[in-house]
Amino acid sequence: MMLFSPLDLRSIRLKNRIAVSPMCQYSAQDGFANDWHLVHLGSRAVGGAGLIIAEATAVSPEGRISPQDLGLWQDEQIDMLKRISSFIHEQGSVAGIQIAHAGRKASTKRPWDGMGNALAQDGGWQPVAPSALPFSEKALMPFALELEGIERIKQAFVSAALRANEAGFKVLEIHGAHGYLLHEFLSPLSNQRQDSYEGSFDNRLRLLEEVSQAVRAVWPEALPLLVRISATDWVEGGWSLEDSLKLAPRLKALGVDLIDCSSGGTLPSAKIPFGPGYQTNFAAKIRQTGILSAAVGMITSAAQAEHILRTEQADLILLGRELLRNPYWPLQAAQELKQDSAWPLQYERAK
Ligand code: FNR
Repeated sequence: MMLFSPLDLRSIRLKNRIAVSPMCQYSAQDGFANDWHLVHLGSRAVGGAGLIIAEATAVSPEGRISPQDLGLWQDEQIDMLKRISSFIHEQGSVAGIQIAHAGRKASTKRPWDGMGNALAQDGGWQPVAPSALPFSEKALMPFALELEGIERIKQAFVSAALRANEAGFKVLEIHGAHGYLLHEFLSPLSNQRQDSYEGSFDNRLRLLEEVSQAVRAVWPEALPLLVRISATDWVEGGWSLEDSLKLAPRLKALGVDLIDCSSGGTLPSAKIPFGPGYQTNFAAKIRQTGILSAAVGMITSAAQAEHILRTEQADLILLGRELLRNPYWPLQAAQELKQDSAWPLQYERAK
């Protein structure tokens, strides 16, 4: 079965095509990982996913979505992440991590504290963005970055990549989706600058390209680099699939190995046609430009995942919420597809 065939990305072999989609746990303190992250990510390695991508991990404190996001902006944050990546590797899975800057969507309260803006008393801050345009009427007004601030953020991505390597991760994903900073630069709806980072399509691509190039330069040659994009804003006049199809080969030329195809996040008014596999088409189209792609979004059954791979719509399947409901999904999917797969020795009596 395709779902259980290995995938080679540079020197890294994933034992199957199932990956844990990055998912914020809103459970860190000052950006530090803890036992929750070890057990959460570790369980999914025990459950048999070939690749585990740790949540959006902020490259700088103001790049967190909530004050409880993970971070890699200081060396002290490496140790616990190293323990987590080691555990994942001991289970025969590959540990990956997503590095991110939340841009204008930063400084919100975590979901179970009611979302909304995180104010100073909640540990919040003023977000930064390409332009002083808030995400919604209720969102905090962001501060428009000056060129110096943009340079600092680029450096922060580079430093976080170096720390991710020290922490033992083998796959790195740059978060260029969901209306966070790098996507904000891509979309004309959020980028209305008047300098070399705006004005034309090329200028809007500049920051994501510069970050990808700078990160690629320090991320080990033998290890794969992924970029998650929102293939469309789902808003008239916004970033579109056509734009993504032009972006993909340019990222490939910079040494990006795979594009993880998500969508949306720029404006709350976007009309997103949620439903089974609603973003798979983007992975299929982007794959046709000649780069590996990952499909994500309401993929929940083994047959559906197998179908996506067999029909050559994607090279890798990411699951988010289904793997929150059931960390053992990969082990059960193998049984459903009548595929032999290794179980953790400790669990073999239950196979
Ligand atoms: C997410 N998602 C997400 N995406 C991302 O790129 N970085 C992140 O840190 C997060 N955080 C996050 C937290 C939680 C609790 C959920 C449910 C989702 C989006 C996620 O990775 C995935 O793309 C979507 O959930 C769609 O896939 P599923 O859940 O339909 O399989």
